[in-house]
Amino acid sequence: MKKITEFNYENKTVILRCDFNVSIKDGKIISDERITAALPTIKYLIDNNAKIIIMSHLGKIKNEEDVKNNSLYIVYERLCELINTKIIFSSSTKGPILEEKIKSLKNGEILLMENTRYEDLNDKSESNCNMDLAKYWASLGDIFINDAFAMTHRKHASNYGISKYLPTGIGFLIEKELKGLDLIINPKGTFTIFMGGAKIEDKLDYINKLLPKCDYLLVGGGIANSFVAVNHNVGLSLYNKDKINELEELLNKYQDKIILPFDFKVKNNNDIFVKDIDEVDDQDNILDLGPKTLSIYKGILDKSQTVLVNGTAGKYEEKGFEEGTKEILSKVNSLKANTVIGGGDAIASSEYFNLKQFSFISTGGGATLEYLAEGKMQCIDN
Ligand code: 3PG
Repeated sequence: MKKITEFNYENKTVILRCDFNVSIKDGKIISDERITAALPTIKYLIDNNAKIIIMSHLGKIKNEEDVKNNSLYIVYERLCELINTKIIFSSSTKGPILEEKIKSLKNGEILLMENTRYEDLNDKSESNCNMDLAKYWASLGDIFINDAFAMTHRKHASNYGISKYLPTGIGFLIEKELKGLDLIINPKGTFTIFMGGAKIEDKLDYINKLLPKCDYLLVGGGIANSFVAVNHNVGLSLYNKDKINELEELLNKYQDKIILPFDFKVKNNNDIFVKDIDEVDDQDNILDLGPKTLSIYKGILDKSQTVLVNGTAGKYEEKGFEEGTKEILSKVNSLKANTVIGGGDAIASSEYFNLKQFSFISTGGGATLEYLAEGKMQCIDN
């Protein structure tokens, strides 16, 4: 794959795919890491006199309500604060208004196009990599630079698709990620993965592929609940009952590697309790790891030489449930190991607690797991 430095951009229009899929809460961007991480590439293109069209998705778009809630305009406002050049926003993702705005670009200027997944309302064209859409977007530029590392596990029209129609290269962020992730691709010593987050179904394929590669898998969040539900009552907690058989097989096969929580912080009505695994009742909602589990997890982290943190231990944004996520991050920050954190939610939590001492911070969540599991990126032909 060519690098960004291998093209001549003079008077050329470059389509730059970024991953500006940032977490937003109460109308504010929680972490702008994914935006700042793209700045070296954007600045390079400005300095090399390119006309720049930036494309990105934001959230998942299934209906008009999602359209309303996932405009990239909020990212446009942040970009304008960060970059000193003329930036225009196009609320159209296709058609004459977008094309006119692109024609008006001068060298070194940027057009940020509205959320590429707005095209998902039209038969999931973006997410299903509709090649007519890809061809149309490609027709708007001369060169395609893909710098959306956090998106490399997905084949969309705006990444894989466009690359089929234009001379293509990778940006500085993808280059940096590949170098940084070498720490976990070739782990030294005991390799521990902490995996949290809401939904087991999003990560089960990766868990299957990563277990042979790691020494320990510590779990938190909804992922832990689904594992725990194989043998225990998890009350009202978030878990996936359709995956129970598969998880049971995994637990049998990797009983020495998968470390499950055995106490929790639960919410029952509006009260918070610490409960052992056998005390959880039908009205309990597990929202964090308990102190005994944390102590075991921290002991394992202490003896690890390589650690990957992906996801959070609990609902850390809610008062009373901060401890699990905070203590895991704080322990990992204190290690003299190679430590990597990846994914929007995990990074947002490390910023929230100001615990950011990692050997490498990866913008990718699923993308990082995919790259670690497969050793390649889906949307880039190697
Ligand atoms: C991510 O945040 O992992 C990427 O932006 C991909 O987003 P998605 O999970 O909505 O496809």
